[in-house]
Amino acid sequence: MRKVRMHGYDGPSALRLDEVPAPLAGPGELLVRVEVAGLTLPVLKVLNGFGRVPLPHTPGGDLVGRVEAVGQGVKGYRVGDRVGGVVFQDLYAELVPVQAALVTPVPEEIAAADALAVVRGGLVALAALRAGRLERGDSVLITAAAGGVGHLAVQLARALGASRVVAAVGSAAKAEFVRGLGADEVVRYQDAAWGEPVDLVVDSVGGQVLQRAAEALVPFGRLVVNSGAGGTLDAGVLLRGMHTVTGLAMAQLSRLRPDLVESHRAELWALLADGALRPVAERFPLERAAEAAEVLAARANLGKLLLDLSLEPAA
Ligand SMILES: NC(=O)c1ccc[n+]([C@@H]2O[C@H](COP(=O)([O-])OP(=O)(O)OC[C@H]3O[C@@H](n4cnc5c(N)ncnc54)[C@H](OP(=O)(O)O)[C@@H]3O)[C@@H](O)[C@H]2O)c1
Repeated sequence: MRKVRMHGYDGPSALRLDEVPAPLAGPGELLVRVEVAGLTLPVLKVLNGFGRVPLPHTPGGDLVGRVEAVGQGVKGYRVGDRVGGVVFQDLYAELVPVQAALVTPVPEEIAAADALAVVRGGLVALAALRAGRLERGDSVLITAAAGGVGHLAVQLARALGASRVVAAVGSAAKAEFVRGLGADEVVRYQDAAWGEPVDLVVDSVGGQVLQRAAEALVPFGRLVVNSGAGGTLDAGVLLRGMHTVTGLAMAQLSRLRPDLVESHRAELWALLADGALRPVAERFPLERAAEAAEVLAARANLGKLLLDLSLEPAA
C-alpha cells in the first residue's frame, strides 16, 4: 500500500511516498481504510526534528475512514463501518491501524471532510468555547482564526449567540477569509490595538500572543489557553483585570469528562446538519503530502489542510 513517510528532519521536504506492506489490526485496534487524513500543527515540530523520532516515520493526526478489519477484543464495530478519530502516528497511508477507543462512528450521509471537522477541529473549538463559558451576547476573540480549529471556532461562536466575533490572524489573505466566515472584526497580531475589549478570548497561538490575548479582555473576562505552544502570562494583568484563565487539553478532557466530549460531538453533528457549521478544507492527494505540510509551515492555510485519498490518480 502507499504510505507517506519522513526520511529526515529537514521539514516538509523530508516527506516521501513509499510502497510498504499493509499493516494488520492489533489487539484493541481497528484497521481503517482512510478517506481523509488531516494535517495538524504538531506535525511541523516532528518534521523539524522535535523528539528525533526513529526514521522512517509517519506522523499522526485526525482521520475519517472505513473499518477494513477488526482487531482482537474490539466490540461494537464491524467491517465496513464508517469511523473518525485520531492516531498518534502512521496516518498518511491508505490503511491505518487505530485504537478503537480513539474513534467514534461517523454518519454515512456526511461528506468525509465535513465529518473530519466534527471529529477534531470542531470538537476542540466547541470544547474551548464551552470551557470559556460562552454565553449569548458575549463578545469573543479567536486567535489563529483562519486555521483548522480557528475557522470553526469563529462559526461556532456566531452560532452560539456571540454578539461580536473578533478574529485575530497573521495575514491579509486570512483576514479576508475570516470576514467571509462571519467575523465582525479582524485584527492582525502586530496591530497596536485589538479593538474594544472582549468577554472571552480563545487563544490557539500561544507564545507572545498569549499575553496580548489576556490584555484584550474586559474586567472579569475569561481566557482559554488552547495552544500547545505554551506562553507566559503576567499575573499583575490577571489580578487587575480579575480575569479567569482556563486551560484546555482534549486528551485530558476525553479521559476525565468523556460525557462532555460526547455531548459536544452530538451538538456538532446537529450544527453541521443545520448548516450552522460549514467546514472549509484545502485538499491534497496523498502523494502531495509534502506540499500540504509546506502550506502549514508557511502559515498559509485557509481552514483545514487534508489529504483526500479519493483524489489519488487511478492505478
Ligand atoms: N487544547 C487542545 O487539546 C488542542 C487540540 C488540538 C489543537 N489545539 C491547538 O489548536 C491550534 C490549531 O491547531 P490546528 O492543528 O488546527 O492548526 P491550524 O489552525 O490549521 O494551523 C495553524 C495556524 O496556527 C497559526 N500558527 C501559530 N504558530 C504557528 C507556527 N509556528 N507555524 C505555523 N502556524 C502557526 C497559524 O495561523 P496565523 O498565521 O493566523 O497565526 C496557522 O494557520 C494549535 O495551537 C493547537 O495547539 C489544541
